[in-house]
Amino acid sequence: MTQALSTQAVIAVIGAGAMGAGIAQVAAAAGHTVKLLDNRPGAAAQAIAGIAAQFEKMAAKGKMRPEAAQAAGERLQAAVQLADLADAALVVEAIVENLQVKQTLFKDLEAVVSEGCILASNTSSISITAIGAALKSPQRLAGLHFFNPAPLMALVEVVSGLATDRAVADTLFATAAAWGKTPVHAKSTPGFIVNRVARPYYAEALRVLTEGGADCATLDACCREAGGFRMGPFELMDMIGHDVNFAVTQSVWRAFFNDPRFLPSLVQQDLVDAGFLGRKSGRGFFDYSASAAKPLAATEPLRAQPNDIVLYGQSAAAQALATRLQANSVSFTQSQALGDTVASAGGATLRVTDGRTAARCAFDTQKPNTVLMDLALDYQTATRLAVSVAAQCDSSAANHAIGVLQAAGFAVSPLQDIPGLIVMRTVAMLANEAADAVNQGVCDTTAVDTAMRLGVNYPCGPLAWANAIGIDKLSTVLAHLAQTYGEDRYRTSPLIQHQLYAAKVFS
Ligand code: NAI
Repeated sequence: MTQALSTQAVIAVIGAGAMGAGIAQVAAAAGHTVKLLDNRPGAAAQAIAGIAAQFEKMAAKGKMRPEAAQAAGERLQAAVQLADLADAALVVEAIVENLQVKQTLFKDLEAVVSEGCILASNTSSISITAIGAALKSPQRLAGLHFFNPAPLMALVEVVSGLATDRAVADTLFATAAAWGKTPVHAKSTPGFIVNRVARPYYAEALRVLTEGGADCATLDACCREAGGFRMGPFELMDMIGHDVNFAVTQSVWRAFFNDPRFLPSLVQQDLVDAGFLGRKSGRGFFDYSASAAKPLAATEPLRAQPNDIVLYGQSAAAQALATRLQANSVSFTQSQALGDTVASAGGATLRVTDGRTAARCAFDTQKPNTVLMDLALDYQTATRLAVSVAAQCDSSAANHAIGVLQAAGFAVSPLQDIPGLIVMRTVAMLANEAADAVNQGVCDTTAVDTAMRLGVNYPCGPLAWANAIGIDKLSTVLAHLAQTYGEDRYRTSPLIQHQLYAAKVFS
C-alpha cells in the first residue's frame, strides 16, 4: 500500500482564502510544517492568526490538547515568495479559479520545488489535465479537492488528470486519509464526482417547480421529511447562492458539450438576472427580510379515518403502513394479492409512484380512483409524504387515500400530477447520474456513494439507494420519465440497464 507523506514533510499551501486556510489548518493539525503563501500582502499572516485562534478554541472546548493546539499553531509559517516553498514535499494550490493563472503558478513552482515534490490543485471545476498541460512534469500534478469548510468536511476528491501518475494520486489518497479525511479517487471529468452527481438534486426540483408541481416550501419539506435530505433543494440553492450554483450548473453543462442531462433552468437564470441570489442578497426563492413570514409546506387538512383499509403485499411502504397503523391503533386487513397497490380504502387505490403520472396510472390500470405516493428514504420514520391524485379520481376516494396516510401519522403534501413526484424522480436521477459516472470510469461505486454522503451530506449513497428501491423499479421510473418527457435528459444509464438485465445490484 502506498504510504502517506510523513509528518516530517513540509506542506505548502498557496492561497490563504477560505479554502487555503482550511487546508493549511488540516495539514498543520496532522503534524506537518505548513507554509502558507498568498499574493495579497498580509493575507497569509492573517490567515495563520485565524487558524491559531481556531486551534485555541478547539483546545478550550476540549477537542485538542492545549500543547497540541499550540504546537499546531507554531507549525504554520507565512511564506513571502515562491522560493520560500523550495523544501515542500507537497504544494496545494487554492488560488483564484482561473486556468491561466493556475497554469502560470504551477509553471513558476516547477522552477522552485524539488523533482519529487507533488503538486496539487484544489480546483472545483477546472480540468486537472488542462492545468497539467502547461507543466514540464504533468505526471506529478493531481487534484486534491477539499469541501468547504475544509477542517469540518470529511471528503477529499483525489483527481487524476490524463497525465497524472497513479503513484502520485495514491500518495495523495494516503496522505488525505492520514489527515483524518475520507478520500475518493476520481478521474478529471467535469464536476469530478460531487459537483456532477449532485446536479439532479437541483435540476429535478427546478423542473417540478417550473411545471407547477408545488411551491418551494412544500417541495423542500418533502425532500427533508420523506427523502431524509438535510436541506431541501430550494433552501439549499438559496444558501449556496444562485450566482454560484448557476455558474456550476452552466460550467458542467458546457463542459459536457451541452448534454441535456445537465441543462440549466430558466428559473435560476431569472433569479440571477434579478439579483435574487439567495440568503446573501436577502431574497432568492425565499424572502429573508426580517418582516417576511417563513412559508409553510402545503399540508392536507385532516381527513376522517377510513374504516376499510386494506394493505397489499410486502413492499417497504406496505410494511411501514402496517407498523404505523398498528402503532396508532388503526385497524386494517392485509391482502396477499400481487401487484403494485400498497393500500386501498373507500374505493381508492394507493400506489408508490413508478414515474407515470397518476392520470396515466389510473388509465393504464383501469382504476380511476388512483392516488400516488412518493418515495421515502424510510417509510417507517418519514414524517411527510407527497401524493398526487389522478384527474379521474373522485374526491371521496381521494379523501380516503389521504386519510390512510394521515392515520399512519404522515403529514400529506399535495402535488400536482407530476411524473415521479419529487423524491422519487430526484433519487432516480441522482442514481442515474451516479451510475453514469461509474460507467464512464470517473470513479467506482463505493467512491460515488461515499462522495455524495460526505461531500453533500446525502442520507444514503445514490447507488445504495438504487439497490434499496430495486433496480427494476428504478429503471421503470426512469423509463417512464423518459417516455413522458421524450428528452435525452432522462435516458437510462447503460449501467442501470446492465444491472437490470444481469439481475445484479450495485456493489
Ligand atoms: P478565496 O477567494 O477565498 O481565496 C483565494 C486566495 O488566493 C485569495 O486570498 C487570493 O489573494 C489568493 N490568490 C489569488 N491568486 C493568487 C496567486 N496567483 N498567488 C497567490 N495567491 C493568490 O477563494 P476560495 O474560495 O478559497 O477558493 C480557492 C480555490 O478553491 C478555487 O480554485 C476554488 O474553486 C476552490 N474551491 C472552493 C470551494 C469553496 O467552497 N469556496 C470549495 C472547493 C474548492
